[in-house]
Amino acid sequence: MSADHVIAIDGPAASGKSSVARALAKRLGFCYVNSGAMYRAVTWRALQRGIAVQDPDAVTALAEEARLACALINDESRISIDNFDPSPHLHSDEVNRAVSLVSRVPRVREIINLQMRRCVAGRDVVVEGRDIGSVVFPETPFKFFLDASPEVRARRRNAQGQRDEIAMRDQADSSRQTAPLVIAPAAERIDTSALTIPEVVEEILKRLRAKGLSRATVNSRR
Ligand code: DC
Repeated sequence: MSADHVIAIDGPAASGKSSVARALAKRLGFCYVNSGAMYRAVTWRALQRGIAVQDPDAVTALAEEARLACALINDESRISIDNFDPSPHLHSDEVNRAVSLVSRVPRVREIINLQMRRCVAGRDVVVEGRDIGSVVFPETPFKFFLDASPEVRARRRNAQGQRDEIAMRDQADSSRQTAPLVIAPAAERIDTSALTIPEVVEEILKRLRAKGLSRATVNSRR
């Protein structure tokens, strides 16, 4: 069960991943997959059900029981959990605070990775996350790691009207035992601090062309 072309876009919070990955997918005619939304969906459901998110066993039980589904609709991933659409709640302060606790639990990661691989099977996709190039799709030759200075990332979050403690979340995401945020071997790092979204997209397209991947080459195989 594998996807066709996978472009992995990893990086810390507010590095520009979501905007870049979505725009890049549009340019290439690929689907856009947001893996963070899956971790956020499980976190939202745990909080909603009053599960102690600090307790890995309780979180594991919740994840085993929950009906988590990922579908590609209008070329973007959509998540449902226990038949709820969690999307309005995914960026609440409560979810921002708890998501690193939930995403450090190994069984949660296994369940999400399985759903994600199923969801993209046979499709051309741009997937954003923390461990896409290192763990979920290590075989893809198209791996990018986006980064930006802590000041720029904090400014971007504020501009989005979010009071997200990104420094704390990055520290937790980078120091956890299972699938920590790392630069995957062979991933190309791009510092987005001084670049606009279109500039980052152009840079990635340029590097993809150098690796032999462009919209034309993908379409010509069909
Ligand atoms: O991309 P995001 O900020 O929406 O992700 C939310 C959290 O989910 C992030 O702090 C860590 C976790 N996450 C992860 O552990 N692995 C992924 N592939 C994606 C997100």
